[in-house]
Amino acid sequence: MLFGSIPPALYNLSSMAIFSVTENQLHGNLPVDLGITFPNIVKFYVVGNRFTGPIPTSLSNASKLEWLELSSNQFTGQIPMNLGRLEGLRWLNLENNTLGSGEVEDMGFLSSLTNCSLLERLSVCSNRLIGALPTSIANLSTNLQQLCLGMNQISGSIPSGIGNLFNLILLYMSDNFMAGMIPEGIGKMGKLQLLALGRNNFSKEFPSFIGNNTQLFVLDLVMNNFEGSIPSTLENCRFLSKLYLSYNNLNGYLHKRIFNITSLQILDLEANSLVGSLPMEVGNLKGLRILDISENKLFGEIPRSLDNCFSLENLHIEGNFFRGTFPSLSSLKGMLQMDICRNNFSREILEYIENFSYLEYLNLSYNDFEGEVPQEGIFKNASAVSVIGNKKLCGGSPALLLPACPSQDSKKQKRRVSRRRMIAIIISSVICSVLLLSLLFYYYIRKSKKKHPEPHLAMNPLEEQLLQISYGDLSRATEGFSQANLIGVGSYGSFYKGSLDRIGKIVAVKVLNLERRGASKSFVAECRALRNIRHRNLLKIHTVCSSIDSKGDDFKALVFDYMANGNLEQWLHVSRDEQYQSKNLTLIQRLNIAVDVASALNYLHNSCEKSIVHCDLKPSNILLDDDMNAHIGDFGLARFLSEATGNCSQNHTNSPGIKGTIGYLAPEYGMGGKVSTFGDIYSYGILLLEMFTGKKPTDEIFNGSLSLHQFAKLALPERVMEIVDQRLLSVEAEAVNERQTPINA
Ligand SMILES: *[C@@H]1O[C@H](CO)[C@@H](O)[C@H](O)[C@H]1NC(C)=O
Ligand SMILES: *[C@@H]1O[C@H](CO)[C@@H](O)[C@H](O)[C@H]1NC(C)=O
Ligand SMILES: *[C@@H]1O[C@H](CO)[C@@H](O)[C@H](O)[C@H]1NC(C)=O
Ligand SMILES: *[C@@H]1O[C@H](CO)[C@@H](O)[C@H](O)[C@H]1NC(C)=O
Ligand SMILES: *[C@@H]1O[C@H](CO)[C@@H](O)[C@H](O)[C@H]1NC(C)=O
Ligand SMILES: *[C@@H]1O[C@H](CO)[C@@H](O)[C@H](O)[C@H]1NC(C)=O
Ligand SMILES: *[C@@H]1O[C@H](CO)[C@@H](O)[C@H](O)[C@H]1NC(C)=O
Repeated sequence: MLFGSIPPALYNLSSMAIFSVTENQLHGNLPVDLGITFPNIVKFYVVGNRFTGPIPTSLSNASKLEWLELSSNQFTGQIPMNLGRLEGLRWLNLENNTLGSGEVEDMGFLSSLTNCSLLERLSVCSNRLIGALPTSIANLSTNLQQLCLGMNQISGSIPSGIGNLFNLILLYMSDNFMAGMIPEGIGKMGKLQLLALGRNNFSKEFPSFIGNNTQLFVLDLVMNNFEGSIPSTLENCRFLSKLYLSYNNLNGYLHKRIFNITSLQILDLEANSLVGSLPMEVGNLKGLRILDISENKLFGEIPRSLDNCFSLENLHIEGNFFRGTFPSLSSLKGMLQMDICRNNFSREILEYIENFSYLEYLNLSYNDFEGEVPQEGIFKNASAVSVIGNKKLCGGSPALLLPACPSQDSKKQKRRVSRRRMIAIIISSVICSVLLLSLLFYYYIRKSKKKHPEPHLAMNPLEEQLLQISYGDLSRATEGFSQANLIGVGSYGSFYKGSLDRIGKIVAVKVLNLERRGASKSFVAECRALRNIRHRNLLKIHTVCSSIDSKGDDFKALVFDYMANGNLEQWLHVSRDEQYQSKNLTLIQRLNIAVDVASALNYLHNSCEKSIVHCDLKPSNILLDDDMNAHIGDFGLARFLSEATGNCSQNHTNSPGIKGTIGYLAPEYGMGGKVSTFGDIYSYGILLLEMFTGKKPTDEIFNGSLSLHQFAKLALPERVMEIVDQRLLSVEAEAVNERQTPINA
């Protein structure tokens, strides 16, 4: 939180090698002779302050400079044309300033930089640079991995020689005034993961050679003038996760091979002129979150297989010529927004939508639906639902102003089931399933597993769509990582509660304890596992921060949704204090949590591009939100099945030490067994037994001969009620009594 200007005397320390004042509120100009007074400077960071004025040209005299980070300030003027003298320069980041002359060509500095043969990252994004790219861009270092020129006023076309930069991972040119065709050379960039050329004036046919960029993760070509169809060769991009092509003139058929890209999470084709039907193969996209094919000329029926896209959160198909019966999508319970208006769907309205408890927006307008509008769920909220323009609808919430329906039979009476009997039935079946699963597990464990392709290792977490956050932001959010905000300590780090203004949310910040051996690896494991996955029952990650702290030490943190109801461990076992007695979970709550955890595990094991094994499933890693929905957290030990050679241990190359948690860890891991999804299922079985018996697997009554598993097995079937968590019985009994009182009265 430093403010003011830097005392001039500080610049006289000629032996200075690393200078960092990142993320303060410092202002003023950098001294004109900076490069001369700092002859030994290697790293110069002033990111995130309020510095103004020009970048000193004398920097080119600081011949040892490798990292120059001036981003997020208010620097003005031209970028010096002599930075090419810095032969050791690796990292030049000038983004998010107000650089640019406003008059003449600003891009000359690129020609100078061709001398910097070690350059890896060059970013001038988000400035006011004018002019065309020089052809010498082709002579920039082939070591270049990131080139970011977006959000400027760059005109002209992309020089065809850009293909020389074959090591590029990130090429970002969105939000400029560029035009012409996309040069074929881009197809030679075999390592490219992000290609963003959106909001320019590029034209003509869709660059079909993009199918050669097989590592592509994000492709953004929105708001250009591309024509023709989406080439089926795009299916070669088998890691492609986000495909943005909206607002172009694409007018071909929607090819079914596009739907072979099973890694897709976002498919945005809005506002083109695509024709044909939505292929049945859309059901292959198990990870798809956003499907936007609105405002096209698509027709036919919506395939029933769409119900298999069970990660879907946003469905936008409005403004097409779809017709027929809209299929039942009752599996898509995570839906947030659904707009199917302005089509020609007929028959009865979609009753299952009542059960979509996350839905925020539903537009069924201007179709041909008929019958009674449901009353529950989102239909209760007239401002979130639109049904206008369907002439045959009736009933529903009065605010929808529909005519009343003809009267109907009174609702069926619900049967009463004895509570105690129901508990016994449910618990016996839970225990039976656990035993059955363990049997299956021992049977299958011997079978060989199918081979997966080599994992896709990203060099950098793509900035795209990730909130960029600094040590300073997190420090402020958590009041300096104060004790008052400490909410938990895990094996590799501490959790703090914080209020992050930039997203207006309470978050949980996991700060890695990097002195702990393996913590750094666990950070990487967690980033990799969470990078590609999303499910309503997994703890949502907002961003990561890998930086240096106020003392100059490495700092790594992950920022998650804050879970108001803590973890399951606290609910199941917290001390016998009076105040926690009321924290008991009811049977139904426990069952819901069990189902939530199962559906997240099913997703990790069976629906991700590569199966993910969590390796550390236990009550303290199951977090509960406001509504008591369960979310699995802590992926610090997670493994991709395809690469898992060791067991669920962190340092499997160095030492065979088991790092999962005793009691929950499958026994074969202790004997050197390989990581498998069955290991998680074992832990899940233990978790179920623990939830319904209230006993920890590490309870002192379980010693060498008796385990929780045997304890439960021995009680089956006659003595189930003896091993059931007694609190469960008393809570249920009370609840039953309460419900019965009015009847008795
Ligand atoms: C700095 O570099 C310039 C050439 O750009 C040179 O003329 C000048 O002598 C150098 N200054 C020092 C102090 O080395
Ligand atoms: C490139 O480096 C050479 C010497 O290594 C130097 O003579 C030349 O001026 C540099 N070019 C630019 C544009 O800085
Ligand atoms: C790139 O470098 C080569 C060889 O150093 C040179 O012949 C060519 O003219 C340069 N191209 C541009 C556009 O500067
Ligand atoms: C794309 O890959 C194919 C086959 O590897 C190759 O023949 C073709 O030249 C490549 N296209 C471009 C533009 O690099
Ligand atoms: C909608 O479908 C019905 C038959 O299902 C047809 O008669 C009608 O013309 C269609 N309306 C439009 C606008 O396509
Ligand atoms: C109803 O919908 C509006 C708009 O989507 C939303 O702001 C509001 O919170 C919803 N109300 C309830 C009770 O869910
Ligand atoms: C639903 O779509 C129709 C037609 O596009 C639009 O007029 C209406 O405002 C939308 N409803 C809501 C709630 O946004």
